[in-house]
Amino acid sequence: MFKTLRRDIRSVFERDPAARSRLEVLFCYPGLHAVWFHRLAHWCWTHRLKFLGRFTSHVSRFLTGIEIHPGARLGPGLFIDHGMGVVIGETAEVGENVTVYQGVTLGGTSLEKVKRHPTIGSNVVIGSGAKVLGPFTVGENSRIGSGSVVVKEVPPNSVVVGIPGRITHRDGRKVEHKIDLNMTDLPDPVARTLQSLAERVAELERTIEELRRLLPTVPLSGAGERSRHQPGELEGIVRSASQD
Ligand SMILES: CC(C)(COP(=O)(O)OP(=O)(O)OC[C@H]1O[C@@H](n2cnc3c(N)ncnc32)[C@H](O)[C@@H]1OP(=O)(O)O)[C@@H](O)C(=O)NCCC(=O)NCCS
Repeated sequence: MFKTLRRDIRSVFERDPAARSRLEVLFCYPGLHAVWFHRLAHWCWTHRLKFLGRFTSHVSRFLTGIEIHPGARLGPGLFIDHGMGVVIGETAEVGENVTVYQGVTLGGTSLEKVKRHPTIGSNVVIGSGAKVLGPFTVGENSRIGSGSVVVKEVPPNSVVVGIPGRITHRDGRKVEHKIDLNMTDLPDPVARTLQSLAERVAELERTIEELRRLLPTVPLSGAGERSRHQPGELEGIVRSASQD
């Protein structure tokens, strides 16, 4: 318990160059206060004291401007810098040493009571104002640019920016999003239609051949010969032949 709290304090010094003293960190960092309130709220939530957990989280929100649902699972070393406007949903999971700036939302996109918030891997940095929405994973060591809206899985060691979030770097290498300028293999709707008509004609020819074979006495070629069958009789023969 004390180890975790000490680690929370250390994370402030590691990630905020403006932090000067322990006293300052203890009294002037709402992000730290919110994480500690959350640890208490989460304990209540998981020990059948749901209302107390919810109320603790509400008091924390009132004092810090950071809303963390007591059901969320936060790893050690989480640092919420500045904090105001941060929202972390009920089924969110956050790994170790994650950094979150002001205005970040770890939100859900479903109204069902299932896992609907993201899972954030260890050492992830989520820039100010970024929204991560949905029950997918943001891989460890990834960084999400400020103002991004991330709506699908992020592999580890990636940099994601923009709306919707797209990966610009992965494993230290730039990811190219090339424009497809290939004009030689464009689909040709006229050729497709002709092809389909040719196939249909071939199929009809095959059917006629088959009928000729089955009904040798019927002049289907329209060569002027009169059928020996009565009107309507031919239809019946064709129908029974196709049923066979
Ligand atoms: C996303 C981020 C982590 C990338 O940092 P980085 O690895 O140093 O990458 P770069 O700054 O070289 O940017 C990489 C590319 O993404 C673009 N980019 C960076 N941040 C962006 C953002 N927030 N939105 C859109 N594009 C962004 C850059 O223009 C660059 O594009 P290019 O390759 O076409 O030139 C960083 O820009 C960021 O947003 N950090 C959050 C910081 C923050 O919120 N601070 C709040 C303090 S209060």
